[in-house]
Amino acid sequence: MIIENQQMVTGAVIDAMSNAENPRLREIMAALVRHAHAFAREVKLTEEEFEQGLAFLNAIGQATNDSHNEAVLFSDVLGFSTLVCLLNNGNAGATETAAALLGPFWRMNSPATANGGSILRSPTPGPALFVNCRIVDVDGAPIAGVEVDVWQASPVGLYENQDDDQADMNLRGKFRTDSEGRFSFRSVRPAGYPVPTHGPVGDLLRAQHRHPYRPAHLHFLGFKQGYKTLITQVFVAEDDRLQTDVVFGVTRHLIGTYVRHEDGAPPAEGVSPPRYTLDYGFVMEPGEAKLPVPPIK
Ligand SMILES: [Fe+2]
Repeated sequence: MIIENQQMVTGAVIDAMSNAENPRLREIMAALVRHAHAFAREVKLTEEEFEQGLAFLNAIGQATNDSHNEAVLFSDVLGFSTLVCLLNNGNAGATETAAALLGPFWRMNSPATANGGSILRSPTPGPALFVNCRIVDVDGAPIAGVEVDVWQASPVGLYENQDDDQADMNLRGKFRTDSEGRFSFRSVRPAGYPVPTHGPVGDLLRAQHRHPYRPAHLHFLGFKQGYKTLITQVFVAEDDRLQTDVVFGVTRHLIGTYVRHEDGAPPAEGVSPPRYTLDYGFVMEPGEAKLPVPPIK
């Protein structure tokens, strides 16, 4: 097709892509082209800005490696990860959900840990935290045998893969719910942390005068055949940055009550106060059990 003017380009591209056999690929690519062209028209994108945008995309790829995923981070700071999460959970976005974005730090093969065990794999300073969770189905019945991955940042605000002072897999563990749908573990109270800002996403945040912090949270991933894989986070209610999470992950449902105790009562004998407890309940929806692609190795 000879392109006579700028208005013609969009239709010509969608036409050229229309032979794709996969109907979903046709739908997604046609919408992408329509919206991308509309975006360029709306902002009257200049050639310099176009070059800058392409350089930004290239820089995202170049900043990504086995232990860092800049593409996930970019999607997160645009609120796109949270949007996709909310569209795909809670009865396809119709109701409240227990789900939240995966984030860039989940690893496969967390160490299997007995219920009640500790996820500290090397000395980790910080107040002790005892977590008791329960997983039920949409009717409130407990779900036994759910494999639950837990991961969190240390009290200095770093995941083990970012920190030479932590052992491999520190503050990560894999649990299995018991017949009452419960799992529990010992850890340290998580701290808020800045997302990595050494790459193009950091440049963007600085240009927008946005802080890079996430409020303190624990990550959970629940997996069992017959249920939609539950990917979520539970936030510390007292965190100052609850309202301004750089990745927009905080929904009302996911604000946890981390209770402070001054004693060393069971199961905390030998733990110097203060210690914290978190009791939290998750609901898993019926659906397909599948694991996400790990953002890092
Ligand atoms: Fe996190």
